[in-house]
Amino acid sequence: MKKRVVSGNRPTGKLHIGHHHGALKNWIELQDKYECFFFVADWHALTTKYDETKNLRSDIKEMVVDWLAAGLDPSKCTIYRQSDLSEVAELSLYFSMITPISWLERCPTYKEMISEINYKDISTHGFLGYPILQTADIVLYHGELVPVGEDQLPHLELGREIVRRFNYLYGQYFPEPEAILSPTKRVLGTDGRKMSKSYGNAINLSDTPEEILKKVQTIITDPARIKKTDPGHPDVCLVFGLHKVYSVDVDKIKEECRAGEIGCVQCKKILAERISESLADFRKRRTELDKNSDEVWNILREGAEKVRPIARETLNKIRKRMNLD
Ligand code: TRP
Repeated sequence: MKKRVVSGNRPTGKLHIGHHHGALKNWIELQDKYECFFFVADWHALTTKYDETKNLRSDIKEMVVDWLAAGLDPSKCTIYRQSDLSEVAELSLYFSMITPISWLERCPTYKEMISEINYKDISTHGFLGYPILQTADIVLYHGELVPVGEDQLPHLELGREIVRRFNYLYGQYFPEPEAILSPTKRVLGTDGRKMSKSYGNAINLSDTPEEILKKVQTIITDPARIKKTDPGHPDVCLVFGLHKVYSVDVDKIKEECRAGEIGCVQCKKILAERISESLADFRKRRTELDKNSDEVWNILREGAEKVRPIARETLNKIRKRMNLD
């Protein structure tokens, strides 16, 4: 029996190359090894964007098209939308009864976001309960392995505590989910900060070669290099950081940069070409998928119907345990 993997992403619209090297590549590999459930966490998006639901449907569609074009294959894994399973909300409610508020307030991601986001009120019940809903997402389907980035580890740990408490109160039932850390390559944005849509520093998977070149050209280069013949410092150069991800001949580029044999303009041009080349197949598949947007919604609907019986059975069993049957 293959172990079951469950993971989700909030719908952020078109994905960037940071997402690709962060989570998506890992998911694509996992679908061949495990029974995988991947979902669009649209309710989680509401925890911070309850006032911005206008583009929710298109954000979901664009993200799922990117998933498919990048290689997630609905014949190998199950893809669905969180909100199509109201069972998640019910399990989340039960977990909310047994989770002390202090556990939630202690969560580092919660503290960080509360202090960072000051342009809107996120001191809501829903946002505080983010990890409760995330736990329900996983254990409703008896997920054993959860591929996530490091930033999600506190949520997973909290989830394990909730599960232990549930099992203690109502009898051993849920397995404690385990994280699988994605072997990620850190991809920085064009301004050197973390790549993020909201920073406007992202290269999207769906960008055209021209857009990629334009964005690469805006990357800040070594200020100590004025003339092409000045020696470069690849170890601190953002452009070189991306070459490490996209070029096989990194050693040669490193040497030429250090020796002042290759200029930044040329180096960026090569990088843009390499990124574009690596996305050529993706672009083709995306264009095909874009022609038929019903396809995405069909896949999500079918995915939801596939996982629903598992969700129902979990709820039947725990309602009995809680004497709610
Ligand atoms: N919190 C995750 C993120 O921001 C998304 C998520 C929601 C998730 N539910 C999940 C990830 C369950 C793994 C398992 O990336």
